[in-house]
Amino acid sequence: MRVLVTGGAGYIGSHTVVQLVAAGHQPVVVDSFVNSRPSVIARLEELTGEQIETHSFDLRDADKTSALFAEGGFDAVIHFAGLKAVGESSQIPLEYYDNNLGATFSLVEAMRRHGVRTIVFSSSATVYGEAAPVPYVEDYEPLAASSPYGRTKVMQERILSDVAATGELQVALLRYFNPVGAHPSGRIGEDPQGVPNNLMPFIAQVAVGRRQRLQVFGDDYPTPDGTPLRDYIHVEDLAAGHVAALEHLAAHPDLAVRAWNLGGGRGTSVLEMITAFEAASGRPIPYEIAPRRAGDLAAFWADATRAETELGWRAERTIEQMCADTWRWQSGNPQGYPG
Ligand code: NAD
Ligand code: UD1
Repeated sequence: MRVLVTGGAGYIGSHTVVQLVAAGHQPVVVDSFVNSRPSVIARLEELTGEQIETHSFDLRDADKTSALFAEGGFDAVIHFAGLKAVGESSQIPLEYYDNNLGATFSLVEAMRRHGVRTIVFSSSATVYGEAAPVPYVEDYEPLAASSPYGRTKVMQERILSDVAATGELQVALLRYFNPVGAHPSGRIGEDPQGVPNNLMPFIAQVAVGRRQRLQVFGDDYPTPDGTPLRDYIHVEDLAAGHVAALEHLAAHPDLAVRAWNLGGGRGTSVLEMITAFEAASGRPIPYEIAPRRAGDLAAFWADATRAETELGWRAERTIEQMCADTWRWQSGNPQGYPG
């Protein structure tokens, strides 16, 4: 399949591009580079041995998006493009709604005009909100999210589902848990701009000496060691989940819309992650206990059985591999990608 990968220069998109090529597909990247570096593309070409057709513009530009589809000959779209920082989304909510919804409107309109039906969408476990029982199951309703970022995901799920109900789209809603890790080559990985918001990149930057110590946001949660439990998933497993979902949609043309959790199905605490990273890197991770972060939940993980039953996919890689691969990337690229 010739697959348009929106946000293909980003963290998860870049890993998925490599696996699409390995699976015999032809990815085409469109990215505004608002949160990624153009130098990613050269790394992708090095890893795949292929030239990666890349278009640099903002998907909200409806004319450029439509023109890309007019020429593109795409069989399907994987839609990663979006802004994703939970805290920032409360500071600049309008930018989040405008970017995330605007990009999706423009994309879906172009798909409709040019007869492309199939879309795999990056959703998040955040759509389960604060009241869903753990483990999270895909049929849970009502979806709710506690940040503007999360609400853009709920809204995009609704919009895509409503269009799918008309028969014009075929949609996979992939709800990611906590993506971490990097390609085993260490050539591509997560490269957050500024101070990392998420646990794993913060730990990795402490290990490599870019930051002095980690703050552990609360150790008085009702969990075994008092720190929150999350369902960490290796980005390589996540990328494989996209290829599986894409191929499932292609094999089931009558399927209109379906949600799948992409998680490992178990929880790991913050302190367990620190210990695992120390072992993988051979470096100490100094930390201090800090107050809880607003909005954090004590514990959640996926019920991942639907993806295994229907897509034949499951998360294979261990916490040790997640830490070892993150460390290979971080230690080989202490400052992230070159400009
Ligand atoms: P990322 O920021 O690394 O990648 C997103 C890419 O989209 C970036 O390269 C950015 O430049 C591009 N982009 C943003 N807005 C655009 C626009 N309007 N037009 C064109 N390109 C645009 O993020 P990621 O971690 O790779 O996440 C990919 C997707 O998965 C996002 O939609 C994110 O919300 C979702 N997601 C991520 C996580 C996570 O923890 N990383 C968890 C759940 C869901
Ligand atoms: C966050 C987002 C979630 C998003 C997910 C993607 C919030 C409230 N939620 O989830 O919407 O889908 O990222 O990966 O931001 N921690 C520390 N110190 C740090 C950073 C994190 O102790 O410097 C702790 C957090 O309190 C949490 C755990 O590490 O208990 C994981 O945090 P993080 O990586 O930010 O992921 P989530 O909070 O699960």
